[in-house]
Amino acid sequence: MSRPLIIAVDGPAASGKGTIAARLAAHYGLPHLDTGLLYRAVGIKVLGDGHSVDDAEAAEAAARSMIPAGLDQDARLTTGEAGEAASRVAGHPGVRAALLELQQDFASQPGGAVLDGRDIGTVIAPDATAKLFITASAEVRARRRWRQLTARGDVIAFEDMLADILRRDERDAGRGAAPMIPAADAVLLDTTDLDIEAAFDAARRIVEAARASR
Ligand code: DC
Repeated sequence: MSRPLIIAVDGPAASGKGTIAARLAAHYGLPHLDTGLLYRAVGIKVLGDGHSVDDAEAAEAAARSMIPAGLDQDARLTTGEAGEAASRVAGHPGVRAALLELQQDFASQPGGAVLDGRDIGTVIAPDATAKLFITASAEVRARRRWRQLTARGDVIAFEDMLADILRRDERDAGRGAAPMIPAADAVLLDTTDLDIEAAFDAARRIVEAARASR
């Protein structure tokens, strides 16, 4: 039997990692898990239950009761508020521990899987076949996110979007628990000047090179 193909796609907000991961999953016929949705769902549940995102106990309880099915259909999770809440609850080690097994089970499906997030290559799937760390300048990432949100009617100033992206980068990379850093063996892909086709093509070539070197 051929070896499972596990692809880890990490990177900051609006770097293109989600789209690249989805395209790679479709290309290789693999299941895909957007792990950011798990943290977004925890953040929204904590707020919905009337707790603060700084309440580690409430956040861990929400993470332990998490059922991942259907999260990709939940429009509430795509808001800026959900992203901000996710980034805050993601700093609690108990939340990360509660979501670990679920993500590792997903990664170890027989044929393999594609997971995108912040700590896939470092913590969730350190033995992944291919590890990509997707980056882009903060301005370009803010512009992409701003276009997405305003296209669907949200009202937000570009400057606020940029400040939000920078604050999120700092929090995600600066936290003690599983900070956002490229794995030592990850390949960096900068999508600042790439459209989605070019970015996907570059990502596919990185995966092929990683497979060939195994
Ligand atoms: O990828 P995203 O924007 O949907 O993620 C939202 C937040 O969730 C992000 O700011 C940090 C957190 N997160 C994390 O800490 N680890 C992951 N594997 C995925 C997301």
